[in-house]
Amino acid sequence: MSERPYIVGNWKMHGTRAMLAEARAIDRAAERLIKVEVALAPPFTLIHACRKEATLIGIGAQDVHPADGGAHTGDVSAAMAKDAGAGFAIVGHSERRADHKESNALVKQKAEAAIEAGMNVIVCVGETEDQRDEGKAEDVVARQLAGSVPTGEELAEKITVAYEPVWAIGTGRTPTVDDIGTMHRHIRGKLVDMFGEAGEAMRILYGGSVKPDNAAELLAADEVGGALVGGASLTAESFLGIIVAAA
Ligand code: G3P
Repeated sequence: MSERPYIVGNWKMHGTRAMLAEARAIDRAAERLIKVEVALAPPFTLIHACRKEATLIGIGAQDVHPADGGAHTGDVSAAMAKDAGAGFAIVGHSERRADHKESNALVKQKAEAAIEAGMNVIVCVGETEDQRDEGKAEDVVARQLAGSVPTGEELAEKITVAYEPVWAIGTGRTPTVDDIGTMHRHIRGKLVDMFGEAGEAMRILYGGSVKPDNAAELLAADEVGGALVGGASLTAESFLGIIVAAA
């Protein structure tokens, strides 16, 4: 695994230009926090401005369309996101899987399109509360990995997996450190099955109610290479609290 924890803020559908001050503040502080790799995924409308305001951290998109271009009103291709300044794309977030009925196959196409456009990808997986209660969490995640992660040893360094249990997103609830470790070891095993030795080095992030006060504990779980952060990434103060905890 990469030495430096990777802390990614997903702003979701939050942010107008007024929030560029937060990106700037995060970027300035990141200069001092060289032990942590920091990135933000603002909405499409702010990618270009964030890239100009924040020159040190990574900037990414929260989604991309799988097609190169064409008659897809309201959608944004990977090449467009890259042109606006995105170096990576999040694909398969549970909110997109639920709100837009995205299948594993579509998520995989999106990941392939982003890689084809020269970006890295963060592929999200995670079970619902019912699936966990029924003891199906590991099977669900295994199916999501098999169906939505592009394969090929040469792609391993471009792909990060984010484990985000759906029931922990925005709820203030988190799995135990042991449960996170168990799931991350399971994901590691699947990545090694899919990518061979290269799967050992792939980053696996945890996401779901990561806050400054629980970040150190959650990040210490087995096989956790960083965090994908929603609500607590919306202000520089709370996001930097997580980054400091990761350093
Ligand atoms: O992608 C990040 C995410 O879904 C977690 O959101 O608000 O629980 O940190 P939050």
